[in-house]
This record gives sequence, structure tokens and C-alpha cells, in this order.
Amino acid sequence: MVQGRKYSFFPAVLIAIFLLSSSLLFAQTDLSGYWVFRVPTGDGNFRETFFQLKQAGENITGKIMFGNREIPITAGSYKDGKLHFETTVGTGDRARQVVYDGTVQNDKIDMTSTFPGREPRKGVAERTTEEATKPPAKIPPPPLHDVPDNALARTPPMGWNSWNKFAGKVDDKTVREIADAMVSSGMKDAGYIYVNIDDTWEGQRDAQGNITSNTKFPDMHALTEYVHSRGLKIGLYSSPGPKTCAGYEGSYGHEEQDAHTYAQWGFDYLKYDWCSASQIYKNDEMQAVYQKMGEFLLRSRRPIVYSLCQYGINDVWTWGAKVGGNLWRTTGDISDRWESMSKIGFSQFDIAPYARPGHWNDPDMLEIGNGGMTADEYRTHMSLWSLLAAPLLAGNDIRTMTDETKSILMNKDVIAIDQDVDANPARRLSDPNATAVIVTRLLHDGSVALGLFNRADQAQTIDVKWDNIGLARRKVQARDLWKHADVPVSADGYSTSVPAHGVVLLKLAVSR
Ligand code: GLA
Repeated sequence: MVQGRKYSFFPAVLIAIFLLSSSLLFAQTDLSGYWVFRVPTGDGNFRETFFQLKQAGENITGKIMFGNREIPITAGSYKDGKLHFETTVGTGDRARQVVYDGTVQNDKIDMTSTFPGREPRKGVAERTTEEATKPPAKIPPPPLHDVPDNALARTPPMGWNSWNKFAGKVDDKTVREIADAMVSSGMKDAGYIYVNIDDTWEGQRDAQGNITSNTKFPDMHALTEYVHSRGLKIGLYSSPGPKTCAGYEGSYGHEEQDAHTYAQWGFDYLKYDWCSASQIYKNDEMQAVYQKMGEFLLRSRRPIVYSLCQYGINDVWTWGAKVGGNLWRTTGDISDRWESMSKIGFSQFDIAPYARPGHWNDPDMLEIGNGGMTADEYRTHMSLWSLLAAPLLAGNDIRTMTDETKSILMNKDVIAIDQDVDANPARRLSDPNATAVIVTRLLHDGSVALGLFNRADQAQTIDVKWDNIGLARRKVQARDLWKHADVPVSADGYSTSVPAHGVVLLKLAVSR
């Protein structure tokens, strides 16, 4: 019996052990809760996405959280250790489905997110707290007062910026090579002086809260020295928010320290991009927030050009100078397409009178040479930006410019319009909706710059009468600044064929 009992007990134990282990093996962790999905950016940082999951059996619901924005999860399932869910980012024509797939192991998820048209992003999701998904507590902005003028940028800043061409792929080597090319190509001699590093240079903060550069930029001080040794100046980028637009470390709560660090490193220019500050501050607090950094830059005692980037919100042209701003973006981001460039460029005339020495409207950086537009469209880009006295920040690869790109970016006569010391506003004399756009600008030497732009998709003849542009009964001599040739004009005006999306840009010498 004893033996019998023993033998009858043994299979029961085996069955129990089997059931227990198989249930452990196949039981799924409950994924409900908050998670952070971290994808290495390859420079020592991680791109972080927060999400909340709610699990009911194999069904997963929840939301992705970007600061204060929440996007619901759809098509969520969790089966045999495999997690799947989707989200839709953007709206209307720009809506895109992002797919997340993960394998759950030990309360961690090996995940891949797939965005249409982009390389899948691989990383690990770990549990986090609800608090970690929220922006940090609000630091009250300072009371408003005027920041003294830093006496910089008496003419529109000229140089190069990394974003349009390189975005997250900018590094120390590229910046040095660009600096070399700025000199060897003649860009420096043409007036392009600032070599500006945009987003994605940032590393983490050290134990004292000092910002560091990431592995793409091993030694910022050595880099600024190198660029200075080429007779150029150098700029960088940050945000008043906790994160930059690309998700890197921003200056929030560290403004004074960062201004000091930039000055110590030897930087000459800061682009300060609103980005995640929108999660903390309201639009009507922007002026005070920008004032804060303007003040610290001034106190750093290094001449640092201050570039505001908040996409023109709250009529920044009415207060940008008061916060110490030397230039302020007036629009959203440009892209290398005719639709984008022309929409931005031709919408700037009403605010042109706000540009003045030291304080400029910035309709965004140049796309000339990036390949998405025709030469005529790029000549329109350069002519329009110059008539508008816009900053001329080339956004292409200076190391590999074609002769055509060089001829557009380095047209000295066109640059001279941009840099004209009087900074008189460009005036549009045509109907705002017309495809033939006539623009004039009075220059310091008494001559008049005249742009005849054709926004239509076919060539058209544009007629201008001297009477209509304030030159009645004057003797006019014209030089075509793209043909580099004097052109005959009649006593009462000029008429010429302008190519589709193109421009004829004249300098008119006027006498009685
Ligand atoms: C914003 C700015 C761009 C660029 C990127 C970098 O979109 O408007 O000019 O600086 O951020 O992330």
C-alpha cells in the first residue's frame, strides 16, 4: 500500500509540475501599463516614444503619447508572445500608418516600428511610469522687458546650415569639409560666413547639468577653432523646450548654463527652435521665453547671432527684436519643391517692412542645389530671397556643387541686393493673385531692383511701365542680373518673356 500510494502520488506530481510549467511558459505577461520605446540614434542617444497599453485577453488598446498629444492605438493584438499594433500619424492627405511589432520577453519588448517609406526602427520597450510620459513642470517665464540690441547682423546673415541636406546625418567631419569647401568654392568670398550646425549634435547632460555633444561631435571646441581658422564663423541649434524637434536634449531649465557653454565652446550663432516648448508654454508666453535666452546670450559676452525659430507664430516680426532676436523664421519649414518655396516666398511682402538692420524676417533656409527644383525655380528662390532681404543660408552640399548651383548662389549682383545697407522693403506692385509678380526695391545707390516673376506653368510676357513703378519721366538704364548683360529698355517701360516659374531680375539705374 505504501508502495502503491507512492506510485499513485508520483504521476500526480508530474502532471502538476507539467501543468504549472506549461502555464508559465504560455501565460502572457499582462502588458497593461506605460512603456517607453527607445530606438538608438547611432550617436549615443535614443529616440523615445511613450505608449500606454491596455490588455484584455489577446486584445490590445491604448495610445501613443507625444508630449501632450495622444494618438489611439488600432489593430492591437497580443498572442503567443507577439505584440502588434498600429497608429495613424498626420491627417488628411498626410495621414500615414505606423506599424509596431514586438516580441515580449521578461517584461521587455523587442520592437520594430515601420513608417511607410522609411527604414524600420528597431529598439527595446521597457516599462515606465505615467509621470515619465508627461512634460516637466512649468518654469514661469520672466516678466517682459526689452533686451538691448547686440549690434550684430547689420545686413542679413549669410552662411550655410546643415538641416536641409544632411538632417540627422551631420557630423564633425562633414562640418569641417563644408568649412573647407566654403573657402575653396568662393562661397566665403561671396559673403557666406556662418557654418551652422542644426539639430542632432546634442548629447546628454553631465552630472552638473552641462550639455555635451554626442558621438558625432567629439570635440566642439576643436571644431569651432577649426572653422574659425578658415576665416568663418560657426553656429549651432537648440530649443527652449525639453526636447528639440528631432527629439534631442533641449535647453529647458538650463538656458543660462547652455548660453555659457556655447560661448565657451566658441560659437557665434544660435538657432533656437520652439519644438517641445509648446508642451509647456502657451503661444502668448513665447516672447518671454525667447527673451530669457536672448538675455543669457548677451550676458555670455560673446557676440552670438540669435535666430528665433517659431514658424512666425504670434506675429514674431512685431516683437522679435525686443527679445534680442537678429532674425526670426516667418513660416513653417521649406522643402525642396516649387510648391513649398513659391508659397513661402510670395507670401512675404506684407511683412517686408519689419526687416531692418540687425533684425530680419527669415523665410527659411535655401534649397538651391538640392535637386528638387529646376534652375529657373532656383533663380526665382535666390532672387526672391534677395529682394526680401532674407538671410541667405545655403542648405546644399557645398563640397559637390555644380557650376549652375555656384552661379546661382554666388551671383554677386543678386547678393548685393540682399545685402543692401538701406534694407528698404521689397514692394509687390502686381495683384496678389496674379501669376506675373512685379517686385521692386529701392537700393542705397538710388537704383531700383526690379523682379519680374512668372508663377505660371508656361512662359509668359511680363510688361512693366516705368509710370507704374514710381519712375515716371525718368531715364532708365537696365542690367539683367542673371544674364550679366545690359538690356535695352524703351522710354516708357520694359517687356520681356519670363520662363515658367522663372524670373528676370533687373537693376535699374535711374536719372532725370
Ligand atoms: C524644425 C525647424 C527646422 C529644423 C528642424 C530640426 O523643423 O523648423 O528648420 O531646424 O526643426 O529638427
